[in-house]
Amino acid sequence: MIGRPVASLLLCGAVCLLGLATRWTALDAAEDPQGAAETAQGPRYNAAGELLLPEGFEEWIFVGANLGLEYKESDAPADTNTKPPEALRNFHNVYINPPAWREFRKSGTFPEGTVLVLDVYRAEKGDGKTLVSEGLFPGARTEVAVGVKNSRRPDGSKTNWAYYDFPAGTKTAKAFDDKACYQCHVDHGSVDNVFVQFYPTLDRLVKAKAK
Ligand code: HEC
Repeated sequence: MIGRPVASLLLCGAVCLLGLATRWTALDAAEDPQGAAETAQGPRYNAAGELLLPEGFEEWIFVGANLGLEYKESDAPADTNTKPPEALRNFHNVYINPPAWREFRKSGTFPEGTVLVLDVYRAEKGDGKTLVSEGLFPGARTEVAVGVKNSRRPDGSKTNWAYYDFPAGTKTAKAFDDKACYQCHVDHGSVDNVFVQFYPTLDRLVKAKAK
């Protein structure tokens, strides 16, 4: 049998913990005034059917990065003369919304409402006079490109993946024509329009399932 002082100590502990838990919930709600952390992770549109820039995607799952990846539409060799020098190319950081990540991990498919964000930064070199002596680092953000899987798109298009671009500072974007973006993605992305082959975090899951 527990003695009275111990029992009251335990009771106090439980009450305090309960208090803390309520406090954390309250804090969460205060930090997320829309009260919809989970909804905010899916695509959101305005009345004209344009996509709103996904908010808080830096807290999503980071699936991979590359530096200066360039691509060409056809089999023609890339024109190396017109390519920007390395220091003017971009860092690409890619994120996926957590509900889609969880589903992909389970089933290997991207569910409706999948959002992929390509966050682009200009690569910069140190000036040689200050701390940085070698290498490139992300400088100014140039754009945020977004791919959304939605077979009931508000803009009326029947294509189930839509692609958008938000030049730095913009908050809404119209979907591109399929010719501009969709076609290359469907032809060359390794899983359902997505370039999973370049995202180690996702690619690992695909390879583990294939074993
Ligand atoms: C010629 C091929 C090609 C075209 C055209 C193309 N992309 Fe991509 N896209 C890629 C490749 C390759 C990647 C792999 C990752 C990267 O670029 O960092 C990619 C990645 C992406 C991603 C990250 C998610 C994913 O699907 O892998 C988004 C978002 C994206 N592109 C948006 C666009 C938009 C918007 C357009 C049209 C304006 C477009 N893309 C046109 C080849 C293409």
